[in-house]
Amino acid sequence: MIFGRVKSLDAILATAEKKGLHRSLGAFQLTMLGIGAVIGTGIFVLTSEAAQKAGPAMMLSFVLAGFVCAVAALCYSELASMVPVAGSAYTYTYAVMGELLAWMVGWALVLEYAIGASAVAVGWSGYLVGLLDNSLGIHIPDALANGPSAGGIVNLPAIVIAGLVTWLLVVGTTESARVNAALVVIKVAALTLFVALSIPVIRMDHFQPLFPTGIGGMAGAAASIFFAYVGFDAVSTAAEETRDPQRNVPIGLIGSLVFCTIFYLLVAAGAIGATDNVAFAQPVRDAAGTLLAPGTSQLTARCAELAGIGQEPLSCSREALAHVLRENGWVKVGNLIGLAAFLALPSVVLMMMFGQIRVFFAMARDGLLPAKLASIHPRFRTPHVMTIVTGLVVMLAAAFLPVGRLADVSNGGTLFAFAMVAASVMVLRRTDPTRHRPFRTPAVYVVGTLAVVGCVYLYYSLPMMAKVFPLIWGAGGLLIYFLYSRSRSHVGRGIVDVVDDPSMQPETSRPLH
Ligand code: ALA
Repeated sequence: MIFGRVKSLDAILATAEKKGLHRSLGAFQLTMLGIGAVIGTGIFVLTSEAAQKAGPAMMLSFVLAGFVCAVAALCYSELASMVPVAGSAYTYTYAVMGELLAWMVGWALVLEYAIGASAVAVGWSGYLVGLLDNSLGIHIPDALANGPSAGGIVNLPAIVIAGLVTWLLVVGTTESARVNAALVVIKVAALTLFVALSIPVIRMDHFQPLFPTGIGGMAGAAASIFFAYVGFDAVSTAAEETRDPQRNVPIGLIGSLVFCTIFYLLVAAGAIGATDNVAFAQPVRDAAGTLLAPGTSQLTARCAELAGIGQEPLSCSREALAHVLRENGWVKVGNLIGLAAFLALPSVVLMMMFGQIRVFFAMARDGLLPAKLASIHPRFRTPHVMTIVTGLVVMLAAAFLPVGRLADVSNGGTLFAFAMVAASVMVLRRTDPTRHRPFRTPAVYVVGTLAVVGCVYLYYSLPMMAKVFPLIWGAGGLLIYFLYSRSRSHVGRGIVDVVDDPSMQPETSRPLH
């Protein structure tokens, strides 16, 4: 039964109060945190995937994906202000929809965070390779910088960065608010530079045909580019550390999303229209005119052919934004953008892995995962076992899979979690109408329904593999739940663990102070 084992909201809130974290973050820092977690591989790399799927209509893809995130963020805001504790979508679902669905959300968040981290690592690898090639003349062979489906053997740089981030997390290094702020400035400066150079030279004829792959192609690109917005939920996981979370969490969530959407639209317009090549943002087709799927060896081969005759359309680039500028003769600025991505993307890998570890913690704290996984390193005071397991998964996926496919699978998990949060908000309005709601989602049934429908539509628009994989993953999760977690659940066994074991808290590795 869906509502079977529900973790009492009061117990969750009491837990948060006991922990008594210092509430130091304001609206500005939260917005910075959101922007820091959001801007990454999506805009820097997946813009080229979006071009392959939708052509110039990717502008609308950005709007559609941004809209779905905005309505989901409004739902997140209500729960995050009511239940300002770590664990995010998993914890909310536990309190509202019960243990089974909470488990499924936690399990889906592994896709969002761990596979998402792999996608960002692969995106970083593309920029590293381009930067070394264009600025230092060092060429990393394709075979060692791509997974098999993109025509290579293994993506070594992606393994290296994922390994490095894992090591940083094991020894307890996390990003301070100051480092985050510096990286946000670098990313925003890079995008601003891109916009300032590309928008003035935009040519409107590049936007024709607008819909080369129809509405379906536009929706497919939206489902992929959705990845560019993922991460804003990091704001809600910091709710425990926020001053006046009732006011500041919604501002942080919506503020970072609005900021990113405006930038993304400008960047997309610049990428489509700024070069001399009128077909620059049109999808690449084979000699027979068949559309080629991103991340396939067929597309790689076709791109190699085109490169042979001096053409490199947007879809062929693994460092989209730097490529646009280089195509226009701004080679040095292109390299600078590459450098910004090189510096800033690892922090997105770190944020996502950290998010993963937090969710695992919350699940282990509830007895749904083995407590051993959450054991703390005696010297570093970090959850080293869990961090290493997460790191190995991230490295393995990053080694062999292309960025777009990883992002699509990550999106599948995220869309499920977002839909559950939206449903939870609506259910809780009915089951617990009198509870104090510091932030109320406006027109909740309209906004919540739009969020659920939007998530379902984007899920439906994902490529088949990205639709099926989360289902198989979910089936595996169910098996583990019924074979292991259900009988060990603290709620199921009547243990109300209001006072948390401090060693189970990732306090020693918090991202913000
Ligand atoms: N939104 C983040 C990115 O695009 C995950 O890298």
